[in-house]
Amino acid sequence: MEWSMAALPPGEKYTLLSDAVVPRPIAWVSTISPDGIVNVAPFSWFNMVTDDPPLVAISINRGKGNVAKDTARNLLEQGECVIHLPSRDDVAQVAASGRNFAPHESEAELLGLPLAPATAVRPPRLANAVLALEGRLWQHIPIGSPVIADHCLIEIVHVYAAESILQDGRIHPEPFNPLMRLGGMDYASIGERFPASRD
Ligand SMILES: Cc1cc2nc3c(=O)[nH]c(=O)nc-3n(C[C@H](O)[C@H](O)[C@H](O)COP(=O)(O)O)c2cc1C
Repeated sequence: MEWSMAALPPGEKYTLLSDAVVPRPIAWVSTISPDGIVNVAPFSWFNMVTDDPPLVAISINRGKGNVAKDTARNLLEQGECVIHLPSRDDVAQVAASGRNFAPHESEAELLGLPLAPATAVRPPRLANAVLALEGRLWQHIPIGSPVIADHCLIEIVHVYAAESILQDGRIHPEPFNPLMRLGGMDYASIGERFPASRD
């Protein structure tokens, strides 16, 4: 089967690409509003872009009426975030934090997610998350006209990793057990792991 993307309605483009580009890591992002409300939301259109400068990218769709989501608005206004890489055990809270909360509501408070101060940025990190990348907005790329998504390049300035996921000073995939996103409502965790040489 083949698809001409131009012939597909928007919802089907979403389904096809989000089934195809898998598994995706999840950025579980905390930001802070100008009023000090801590916002937490997950984004799987997320990946590493460069290592020096250390940049990651997150694409945040505009919602109804092309209004920026709270995360994008906070990032644009305050310039800082903490990107947590959730573990398999975090799945229920990750999914719940993706619900549509009002801007004045704090997902951290409503979902009972304990917070801890970050080291280099103002938004707090999620105290129970094993891996947290503290970041500053490096470039905002509005996609489309009218804008349909806020593509954000974020420079990572500080990294926190819980002792429990380290082995010989490196992050170890088994204890970390990263949560990944598949198409539809599905998630995955790490299965078989094997090395392969380039030679
Ligand atoms: C696992 C998961 C991944 C998601 N990935 C994205 C994404 O990459 N881009 C996006 O715009 N929304 C994504 N969403 C939806 C947002 O999390 C959702 O719209 C959320 O309410 C945004 O919150 P905010 O307005 O507080 O920023 C995802 C939801 C879940 C549960």
